[in-house]
Amino acid sequence: MIDLSTQYLGLKLKNPLVPSSSPLTGNLDDARRLEDAGAAAIVLPSLFEESVHFEQKQLDKYVHSQALGSYEAESFQPVPCDYKGELDNYLDHLHHVKSSLNIPVIASLNGISVSGWIDFGKELVEAGADALELNVYYIAADPEHDGKHVENRYIELLADLREQISLPITMKLSSQFSSVANMVSKLQKASANGVVLFNRFYQPDIDLETLRIKPHLELSTADEALLRIRWIALIRSRIEISLAATGGFHQADDIIKALLAGADAVYLCSVLLEKGPEFCTELLQQLQNWLTEHEYESVQQMQGSVSQSCAIDPAAYEHSNYVDVIKSYRR
Ligand SMILES: Cc1cc2nc3c(=O)[nH]c(=O)nc-3n(C[C@H](O)[C@H](O)[C@H](O)COP(=O)(O)O)c2cc1C
Repeated sequence: MIDLSTQYLGLKLKNPLVPSSSPLTGNLDDARRLEDAGAAAIVLPSLFEESVHFEQKQLDKYVHSQALGSYEAESFQPVPCDYKGELDNYLDHLHHVKSSLNIPVIASLNGISVSGWIDFGKELVEAGADALELNVYYIAADPEHDGKHVENRYIELLADLREQISLPITMKLSSQFSSVANMVSKLQKASANGVVLFNRFYQPDIDLETLRIKPHLELSTADEALLRIRWIALIRSRIEISLAATGGFHQADDIIKALLAGADAVYLCSVLLEKGPEFCTELLQQLQNWLTEHEYESVQQMQGSVSQSCAIDPAAYEHSNYVDVIKSYRR
């Protein structure tokens, strides 16, 4: 029997397949189906700091700006005692998932302010999360903010949270850093337990009739996986913390490539939204078949064996074959 287990964020996972944040992991029945189909852990959808703050503001407005008749009545605050906000609902879901599933559950926070994350982070730890994922969805559009400013935002958030929380923390990054390798190294120094490469930015679209900006979400395609595989291969031997690949993993071949490049876990989202949670079983079977055919005894044996430092042609991961690639194009 081939050993599919892997170490990720200090957790022993029974295999490298981890359904990432999505509506699937936000639904208890689907989360159960994912576990039944063999998923090794799940990442819950993010708790969005901006939504919690917006809700708190609305609630304050509701409570404090009511035109009530008399002084006595004004001291009465009519918040229904069974009212549950975003944070309460998130904690409830985490609690339900933790008590129904046996696999590790990673909670996810999306936000940019330090204080917000620390408070929420502590609550997620108390509710039983096995690890925390931080998703800094930050578009650096201010011309006054240089690269260092943007990077510091991530590092400071992590460092502040790290001081308060001993749980494993991983950061989901976009590929849009001047030096991805240096950024990951800085996060490692700031005590991150892992990074998730790479977040996808959703591109807003312009409606040509109304001239309004409309939100636009497209699921990924398998073409996106190679960017992740390349960066994992490039940094694997230089970075000790856990590396997860996310973005474009739709088929077993690309999952195998990410593991060969050095990924500790491979996240799945679009493919499971398209094909359903049960597709995990098929991917695991294909992974197992490939390992058998290529005479590997375990996933750990093959992990990183085609990272840049182990590859037969390491320069191919960098610039040196650029000219060959361009010249090889045939019309
Ligand atoms: C409908 C939908 C909801 C998502 N929600 C979240 C989220 O709450 N937090 C997060 O970090 N990523 C979220 N993601 C991103 C996914 O977790 C994943 O990283 C991304 O889709 C790339 O992986 P894929 O190519 O397998 O889809 C979402 C993606 C989709 C399609």
